[in-house]
Amino acid sequence: MSGGLLAREDELAAVARAVDAARAATGTVLLLEGPAGIGKTTVLEAARRVAGERDALVLSARASELDRAFGFGLVHQLLDRAAKPELLVGAAAHAAVVLDPTSGAAEDAGFAVLHGLYWLVANLAEQQPVVLLADDLHWADVPSLRFLEYLARRIDGLAVAVVATTRPQEPGASAELLDELRTSATVVRPGPLPREAVADLLTAELGAAPDAAVIDAALEATGGNPLLVSVLAREAASAGVQSPAQLAELGARGVAPAVERRLRPLGAGKSAAKRA
Ligand SMILES: Nc1ncnc2c1ncn2[C@@H]1O[C@H](COP(=O)(O)OP(=O)(O)OP(=O)(O)O)[C@@H](O)[C@H]1O
Ligand SMILES: [Mg+2]
Repeated sequence: MSGGLLAREDELAAVARAVDAARAATGTVLLLEGPAGIGKTTVLEAARRVAGERDALVLSARASELDRAFGFGLVHQLLDRAAKPELLVGAAAHAAVVLDPTSGAAEDAGFAVLHGLYWLVANLAEQQPVVLLADDLHWADVPSLRFLEYLARRIDGLAVAVVATTRPQEPGASAELLDELRTSATVVRPGPLPREAVADLLTAELGAAPDAAVIDAALEATGGNPLLVSVLAREAASAGVQSPAQLAELGARGVAPAVERRLRPLGAGKSAAKRA
Protein backbone atom coordinates (compact mmCIF):
# COMPACT_ATOMS: atom_id res chain seq x y z
CA MET A 1 0.00 0.00 0.00
CA SER A 2 1.33 3.46 -0.90
CA GLY A 3 -0.25 6.92 -0.97
CA GLY A 4 -3.67 5.52 -0.15
CA LEU A 5 -3.71 3.21 -3.16
CA LEU A 6 -4.79 -0.20 -1.89
CA ALA A 7 -4.63 -3.59 -3.58
CA ARG A 8 -3.59 -2.42 -7.04
CA GLU A 9 -0.29 -4.27 -7.42
CA ASP A 10 -1.27 -5.86 -10.76
CA GLU A 11 -2.49 -2.58 -12.17
CA LEU A 12 0.67 -0.76 -11.07
CA ALA A 13 2.79 -3.50 -12.60
CA ALA A 14 0.91 -3.09 -15.89
CA VAL A 15 1.47 0.67 -15.71
CA ALA A 16 5.19 0.19 -15.06
CA ARG A 17 5.42 -2.20 -18.02
CA ALA A 18 3.68 0.30 -20.28
CA VAL A 19 6.00 3.14 -19.24
CA ASP A 20 9.04 0.91 -19.67
CA ALA A 21 7.78 -0.15 -23.09
CA ALA A 22 7.65 3.52 -24.07
CA ARG A 23 11.22 3.99 -22.84
CA ALA A 24 12.30 1.02 -24.92
CA ALA A 25 10.50 2.42 -28.00
CA THR A 26 8.10 -0.51 -28.09
CA GLY A 27 5.05 1.64 -27.57
CA THR A 28 1.88 0.26 -26.11
CA VAL A 29 -1.66 1.09 -25.10
CA LEU A 30 -2.99 0.22 -21.65
CA LEU A 31 -6.73 0.49 -21.18
CA LEU A 32 -8.09 0.53 -17.63
CA GLU A 33 -11.67 -0.53 -17.80
CA GLY A 34 -14.37 -0.81 -15.17
CA PRO A 35 -17.48 0.62 -13.60
CA ALA A 36 -17.87 3.98 -11.91
CA GLY A 37 -15.87 4.33 -8.72
CA ILE A 38 -13.79 1.17 -9.14
CA GLY A 39 -10.59 3.22 -9.13
CA LYS A 40 -9.57 3.83 -12.75
CA THR A 41 -8.61 7.48 -12.32
CA THR A 42 -6.73 6.61 -9.16
CA VAL A 43 -4.55 4.17 -11.12
CA LEU A 44 -4.14 6.78 -13.86
CA GLU A 45 -2.81 9.24 -11.30
CA ALA A 46 -0.38 6.58 -10.15
CA ALA A 47 0.69 6.22 -13.79
CA ARG A 48 1.40 9.95 -13.85
CA ARG A 49 3.79 9.53 -10.92
CA VAL A 50 5.47 6.44 -12.36
CA ALA A 51 5.97 8.11 -15.74
CA GLY A 52 7.35 11.26 -14.10
CA GLU A 53 9.78 9.24 -12.01
CA ARG A 54 11.00 7.50 -15.15
CA ASP A 55 11.61 10.75 -17.00
CA ALA A 56 8.81 10.49 -19.50
CA LEU A 57 6.96 13.50 -20.81
CA VAL A 58 3.45 13.17 -19.41
CA LEU A 59 0.58 14.71 -21.36
CA SER A 60 -2.90 14.23 -20.01
CA ALA A 61 -6.53 14.84 -20.75
CA ARG A 62 -9.92 14.03 -19.35
CA ALA A 63 -12.97 13.68 -21.54
CA SER A 64 -16.22 15.10 -20.28
CA GLU A 65 -19.82 14.88 -21.31
CA LEU A 66 -19.81 18.63 -21.93
CA ASP A 67 -16.97 18.50 -24.45
CA ARG A 68 -18.05 15.43 -26.31
CA ALA A 69 -19.46 17.39 -29.24
CA PHE A 70 -16.28 19.44 -29.56
CA GLY A 71 -14.23 17.81 -32.32
CA PHE A 72 -10.68 16.95 -31.25
CA GLY A 73 -11.41 18.36 -27.80
CA LEU A 74 -9.50 15.56 -26.09
CA VAL A 75 -6.62 15.86 -28.56
CA HIS A 76 -6.41 19.57 -27.78
CA GLN A 77 -6.13 18.84 -24.09
CA LEU A 78 -3.47 16.23 -24.75
CA LEU A 79 -1.32 17.94 -27.34
CA ASP A 80 -1.80 21.72 -27.38
CA ARG A 81 0.94 22.24 -24.82
CA ALA A 82 3.40 20.11 -26.75
CA ALA A 83 2.58 21.24 -30.28
CA LYS A 84 5.50 23.63 -30.72
CA PRO A 85 5.85 25.05 -34.25
CA GLU A 86 9.22 23.32 -34.73
CA LEU A 87 7.49 19.95 -34.22
CA LEU A 88 4.69 20.68 -36.71
CA VAL A 89 6.96 20.08 -39.67
CA GLY A 90 7.20 17.41 -42.34
CA ALA A 91 4.30 14.99 -42.14
CA ALA A 92 3.33 16.50 -38.77
CA ALA A 93 2.46 19.76 -40.52
CA HIS A 94 -0.94 18.24 -41.31
CA ALA A 95 -1.72 18.42 -37.58
CA ALA A 96 -1.56 22.20 -37.73
CA VAL A 97 -5.16 22.50 -38.95
CA VAL A 98 -6.16 21.04 -35.59
CA LEU A 99 -3.53 22.40 -33.23
CA ASP A 100 -2.34 25.68 -34.68
CA PRO A 101 -4.87 28.36 -33.71
CA THR A 102 -3.81 30.54 -36.66
CA SER A 103 -4.63 27.98 -39.30
CA GLY A 104 -8.42 27.76 -39.05
CA ALA A 105 -10.26 24.91 -37.39
CA ALA A 106 -10.59 21.36 -38.66
CA GLU A 107 -13.06 19.17 -36.87
CA ASP A 108 -13.07 16.17 -39.15
CA ALA A 109 -10.71 13.30 -38.72
CA GLY A 110 -9.45 12.89 -42.27
CA PHE A 111 -6.50 10.63 -42.89
CA ALA A 112 -4.05 13.49 -43.43
CA VAL A 113 -4.95 15.04 -40.09
CA LEU A 114 -4.69 11.74 -38.19
CA HIS A 115 -1.38 11.07 -39.88
CA GLY A 116 -0.17 14.56 -38.96
CA LEU A 117 -1.13 14.10 -35.32
CA TYR A 118 0.59 10.72 -35.31
CA TRP A 119 3.78 12.32 -36.62
CA LEU A 120 3.59 15.09 -34.07
CA VAL A 121 3.57 12.46 -31.33
CA ALA A 122 6.34 10.54 -33.09
CA ASN A 123 8.45 13.71 -33.31
CA LEU A 124 7.88 14.42 -29.63
CA ALA A 125 8.90 10.89 -28.74
CA GLU A 126 12.19 11.32 -30.57
CA GLN A 127 13.14 13.79 -27.84
CA GLN A 128 11.83 11.97 -24.76
CA PRO A 129 9.54 9.02 -24.03
CA VAL A 130 5.96 10.21 -24.07
CA VAL A 131 3.15 8.97 -21.84
CA LEU A 132 -0.33 10.05 -22.88
CA LEU A 133 -2.94 9.78 -20.12
CA ALA A 134 -6.57 9.94 -21.20
CA ASP A 135 -9.32 9.65 -18.61
CA ASP A 136 -12.97 8.78 -19.26
CA LEU A 137 -12.78 7.77 -22.92
CA HIS A 138 -16.46 6.81 -22.82
CA TRP A 139 -17.08 10.57 -23.05
CA ALA A 140 -14.41 11.33 -25.65
CA ASP A 141 -15.27 13.07 -28.91
CA VAL A 142 -15.23 10.90 -32.01
CA PRO A 143 -12.32 12.54 -33.88
CA SER A 144 -10.08 12.18 -30.81
CA LEU A 145 -11.01 8.51 -30.47
CA ARG A 146 -10.22 8.01 -34.14
CA PHE A 147 -6.80 9.54 -33.50
CA LEU A 148 -6.13 7.31 -30.48
CA GLU A 149 -7.17 4.27 -32.45
CA TYR A 150 -4.97 5.34 -35.39
CA LEU A 151 -2.04 5.86 -33.03
CA ALA A 152 -2.66 2.57 -31.23
CA ARG A 153 -2.31 0.58 -34.46
CA ARG A 154 1.06 2.20 -35.21
CA ILE A 155 2.47 2.67 -31.73
CA ASP A 156 4.76 -0.35 -31.82
CA GLY A 157 7.99 1.35 -32.81
CA LEU A 158 7.41 4.58 -30.92
CA ALA A 159 8.64 5.68 -27.51
CA VAL A 160 5.03 6.26 -26.53
CA ALA A 161 2.63 4.75 -24.04
CA VAL A 162 -1.05 5.54 -23.93
CA VAL A 163 -2.78 4.85 -20.63
CA ALA A 164 -6.51 5.43 -20.78
CA THR A 165 -9.63 4.67 -18.80
CA THR A 166 -13.15 3.85 -19.79
CA ARG A 167 -16.41 2.64 -18.33
CA PRO A 168 -17.77 -0.20 -20.45
CA GLN A 169 -21.30 0.10 -21.77
CA GLU A 170 -21.66 3.74 -20.86
CA PRO A 171 -24.71 5.15 -22.69
CA GLY A 172 -23.73 7.38 -25.59
CA ALA A 173 -20.15 6.14 -25.80
CA SER A 174 -18.63 5.50 -29.21
CA ALA A 175 -18.75 1.77 -28.62
CA GLU A 176 -17.37 0.73 -32.00
CA LEU A 177 -14.35 2.99 -31.81
CA LEU A 178 -13.69 1.91 -28.25
CA ASP A 179 -13.91 -1.72 -29.36
CA GLU A 180 -11.38 -1.04 -32.09
CA LEU A 181 -9.07 0.66 -29.64
CA ARG A 182 -9.43 -2.29 -27.29
CA THR A 183 -8.15 -4.68 -29.98
CA SER A 184 -4.80 -2.82 -30.01
CA ALA A 185 -4.61 -2.45 -26.25
CA THR A 186 -3.74 -4.36 -23.13
CA VAL A 187 -6.93 -4.25 -21.11
CA VAL A 188 -6.74 -4.26 -17.33
CA ARG A 189 -9.86 -4.34 -15.20
CA PRO A 190 -9.37 -3.17 -11.62
CA GLY A 191 -11.59 -5.35 -9.49
CA PRO A 192 -13.43 -4.84 -6.22
CA LEU A 193 -11.21 -4.22 -3.22
CA PRO A 194 -10.42 -7.30 -1.14
CA ARG A 195 -11.61 -7.54 2.44
CA GLU A 196 -8.35 -6.27 4.00
CA ALA A 197 -8.41 -3.16 1.84
CA VAL A 198 -12.04 -2.49 2.75
CA ALA A 199 -11.03 -2.88 6.39
CA ASP A 200 -8.15 -0.41 5.91
CA LEU A 201 -10.44 2.19 4.35
CA LEU A 202 -12.94 1.79 7.17
CA THR A 203 -10.20 2.05 9.78
CA ALA A 204 -8.82 5.21 8.21
CA GLU A 205 -12.24 6.87 8.18
CA LEU A 206 -13.58 5.63 11.51
CA GLY A 207 -10.34 6.18 13.39
CA ALA A 208 -10.34 2.66 14.81
CA ALA A 209 -10.32 -0.88 13.46
CA PRO A 210 -13.91 -2.04 12.97
CA ASP A 211 -15.31 -5.42 14.04
CA ALA A 212 -15.28 -8.26 11.56
CA ALA A 213 -19.06 -8.01 11.32
CA VAL A 214 -18.86 -4.31 10.41
CA ILE A 215 -16.37 -5.12 7.68
CA ASP A 216 -18.69 -7.84 6.39
CA ALA A 217 -21.61 -5.42 6.34
CA ALA A 218 -19.55 -2.83 4.44
CA LEU A 219 -18.41 -5.42 1.91
CA GLU A 220 -21.96 -6.58 1.47
CA ALA A 221 -23.29 -3.05 1.00
CA THR A 222 -20.60 -1.89 -1.42
CA GLY A 223 -19.40 -4.99 -3.24
CA GLY A 224 -15.87 -3.71 -2.54
CA ASN A 225 -16.23 -0.73 -4.89
CA PRO A 226 -13.72 1.78 -3.45
CA LEU A 227 -15.89 4.81 -4.11
CA LEU A 228 -18.83 3.22 -2.36
CA VAL A 229 -16.64 2.02 0.50
CA SER A 230 -15.19 5.47 1.08
CA VAL A 231 -18.56 7.20 0.89
CA LEU A 232 -20.07 4.65 3.26
CA ALA A 233 -17.13 4.92 5.64
CA ARG A 234 -17.37 8.72 5.67
CA GLU A 235 -21.10 8.69 6.26
CA ALA A 236 -20.71 6.06 8.96
CA ALA A 237 -18.05 8.18 10.66
CA SER A 238 -20.16 11.33 10.62
CA ALA A 239 -23.26 9.46 11.81
CA GLY A 240 -21.29 7.78 14.59
CA VAL A 241 -22.30 4.34 13.38
CA GLN A 242 -21.08 1.44 15.52
CA SER A 243 -23.01 -1.70 14.74
CA PRO A 244 -23.03 -3.77 11.57
CA ALA A 245 -26.81 -3.45 11.39
CA GLN A 246 -26.55 0.36 11.39
CA LEU A 247 -23.84 0.20 8.75
CA ALA A 248 -25.88 -2.11 6.57
CA GLU A 249 -28.81 0.24 6.97
CA LEU A 250 -26.62 3.18 5.90
CA GLY A 251 -25.32 1.12 3.02
CA ALA A 252 -28.81 0.41 1.83
CA ARG A 253 -29.97 4.03 1.81
CA GLY A 254 -27.15 6.38 2.79
CA VAL A 255 -24.66 5.92 0.01
CA ALA A 256 -26.95 6.38 -2.95
CA PRO A 257 -27.44 10.17 -2.78
CA ALA A 258 -23.73 10.95 -2.45
CA VAL A 259 -22.90 8.62 -5.30
CA GLU A 260 -25.66 10.04 -7.48
CA ARG A 261 -24.30 13.53 -6.86
CA ARG A 262 -20.90 12.45 -8.00
CA LEU A 263 -22.03 10.50 -11.03
CA ARG A 264 -24.62 12.93 -12.30
CA PRO A 265 -22.96 16.35 -12.34
CA LEU A 266 -24.88 17.13 -15.51
CA GLY A 267 -28.16 15.52 -14.64
CA ALA A 268 -27.49 12.63 -17.03
CA GLY A 269 -26.13 9.12 -16.68
CA LYS A 270 -28.58 7.98 -14.07
CA SER A 271 -28.22 4.41 -15.19
CA ALA A 272 -24.50 4.43 -14.33
CA ALA A 273 -25.30 5.49 -10.79
CA LYS A 274 -27.90 2.82 -10.48
CA ARG A 275 -25.59 0.13 -11.76
CA ALA A 276 -22.89 1.22 -9.31
N1 LIG B 1 -7.12 1.19 -4.75
C1 LIG B 1 -7.72 2.12 -3.99
N2 LIG B 1 -7.45 2.24 -2.69
C2 LIG B 1 -8.04 3.18 -1.93
N3 LIG B 1 -8.95 4.06 -2.39
C3 LIG B 1 -9.28 3.99 -3.69
C4 LIG B 1 -8.68 3.02 -4.55
N4 LIG B 1 -9.20 3.16 -5.78
C5 LIG B 1 -10.06 4.18 -5.70
N5 LIG B 1 -10.11 4.69 -4.46
C6 LIG B 1 -10.98 5.79 -4.03
O1 LIG B 1 -12.26 5.55 -4.57
C7 LIG B 1 -12.80 6.70 -5.19
C8 LIG B 1 -13.15 6.41 -6.63
O2 LIG B 1 -11.97 6.17 -7.37
P1 LIG B 1 -11.78 6.71 -8.86
O3 LIG B 1 -12.19 8.12 -8.96
O4 LIG B 1 -10.39 6.39 -9.26
O5 LIG B 1 -12.81 5.80 -9.65
P2 LIG B 1 -13.09 5.73 -11.22
O6 LIG B 1 -13.04 4.31 -11.62
O7 LIG B 1 -12.18 6.67 -11.93
O8 LIG B 1 -14.60 6.23 -11.32
P3 LIG B 1 -15.36 7.00 -12.52
O9 LIG B 1 -15.75 5.98 -13.55
O10 LIG B 1 -16.55 7.61 -11.86
O11 LIG B 1 -14.41 8.04 -13.05
C9 LIG B 1 -11.78 7.79 -4.98
O12 LIG B 1 -12.18 8.56 -3.89
C10 LIG B 1 -10.50 7.07 -4.67
O13 LIG B 1 -9.70 7.81 -3.79
MG1 LIG C 1 -12.52 8.33 -13.05
